[in-house]
Amino acid sequence: MNVYDSSRIADMLKNEGYEETLKQADADIVLFNTCHIREKAAEKLFSDLGRAHLIELERLEQTGKKTIIGVVGCVVQAEDNQIIKRAPFVDFALGPLMYHTIPEVLKKISLEKEHESYVNTDFPAVSKFDFLPENKAQGACSYLAIQEGCDNFCTYCVVPYTRGAEYSRPVAEVLKEARRLVDTGTLEINLLGQNVNSYHGEDENGKERNLAYLLNRVAEIDGLKRIRYTTSYPADMTDDLIECHKNIDILMPYLHLPIQSGSDKILKAMNRRHNSSDYLRIVEKLKKANPNIGMSSDFIVGFPGETDADFQATLDVVNEVKYIQAFSFKYSRRPGTPAAVMDNQVEEKVKKQRLDILQNLLFSYQDKFNQSCIGKVMPVLFDQKGRHKGQLIGRTPYMQNLHIKTDSANINKIINVEVTDATTNSLGGKEI
Ligand code: 5AD
Ligand code: SF4
Repeated sequence: MNVYDSSRIADMLKNEGYEETLKQADADIVLFNTCHIREKAAEKLFSDLGRAHLIELERLEQTGKKTIIGVVGCVVQAEDNQIIKRAPFVDFALGPLMYHTIPEVLKKISLEKEHESYVNTDFPAVSKFDFLPENKAQGACSYLAIQEGCDNFCTYCVVPYTRGAEYSRPVAEVLKEARRLVDTGTLEINLLGQNVNSYHGEDENGKERNLAYLLNRVAEIDGLKRIRYTTSYPADMTDDLIECHKNIDILMPYLHLPIQSGSDKILKAMNRRHNSSDYLRIVEKLKKANPNIGMSSDFIVGFPGETDADFQATLDVVNEVKYIQAFSFKYSRRPGTPAAVMDNQVEEKVKKQRLDILQNLLFSYQDKFNQSCIGKVMPVLFDQKGRHKGQLIGRTPYMQNLHIKTDSANINKIINVEVTDATTNSLGGKEI
């Protein structure tokens, strides 16, 4: 979501006459878009800000030019004025629902005069999407936010506090943006939301529609070759959405469906509205709808009260589902969330041990899946140049990175490739 937000901010600044620079020393404005999901992500901001301030001072000394430093995103929402307290050189800070006001803020903050730091963490009544300028493709693969915020309140998670209540963009607005992305070069759209499958946007007649409906409408767009949606909440995997995996041929056979833990006790303490057998039943239904589907998930280890037996239940789910990719994290105590003040916090050492064990198991399945692709022919969307001359990097339907040696004219195309080699993290292949 932050990649998408950053691209909308960049488009907005281009509209205001700004250009991207490669070096900070050349930049009149430096903007950080921030994540508050885990402590590590939030702390990174302050070390990056420190570095940016040093360059700001050097630039002023060497060229006499001032720099505006801005921070946007979820850290601002959570820390509010504390950002300015810790980093007083920050000129402005805006929450994730306020970044559309950047042009206005820049008018308030003159480079010429001394000014107060400006902070705005409102949750506006009118969606920011109504104010953003029209965007273009981010490349052959583009993100498109259709839903934002979350009402689930998992007890470990900051999102309901930083991104606010669930909001779904109207169907017509999503379709308009999707068409524009395709018209400007996109072949693959990834529909985004913190809880994307709770989508309930209004259609042209004011009727509430779900994600299954929206996927079918997006799939009708001429020239669009691939659709994905991220991230889904298990309890909201409706049967009609599962059916989309059977009926929409451009919907990729890959689904990121976080379970977080395999232990029902922990899932309950996390306030997740599913237990492990509900989850496994959904996976079974998905596999029935499309036997080729590959599953991905997020996991948290060391949630308060997690015992060895609870952790084993997580490993059991991994062995059952055999994820082809996954993201796993040590539980991070987030101020203001219910889990942060729960008893039975798990020791850091134990969290680390469990994460190592889990990641080894996850990698073994990922590796096995990648190895099983050798000899297969896959359509690959090439959207990046590789490090070596004549090399292109693309994505398979399963989100694996694949590199080939080919004519650079093949960039931004989907090409059939025979997979010739595989590691845990990428594939190699040849054009056929
Ligand atoms: N600690 C560790 N991981 C977390 N996530 C969310 N909040 C926390 C936390 N407090 C993980 C979840 C979520 C992913 C985006 O980040 O697994 O699905
Ligand atoms: Fe956070 Fe996802 Fe739970 Fe919402 S559903 S509270 S975004 S982990």
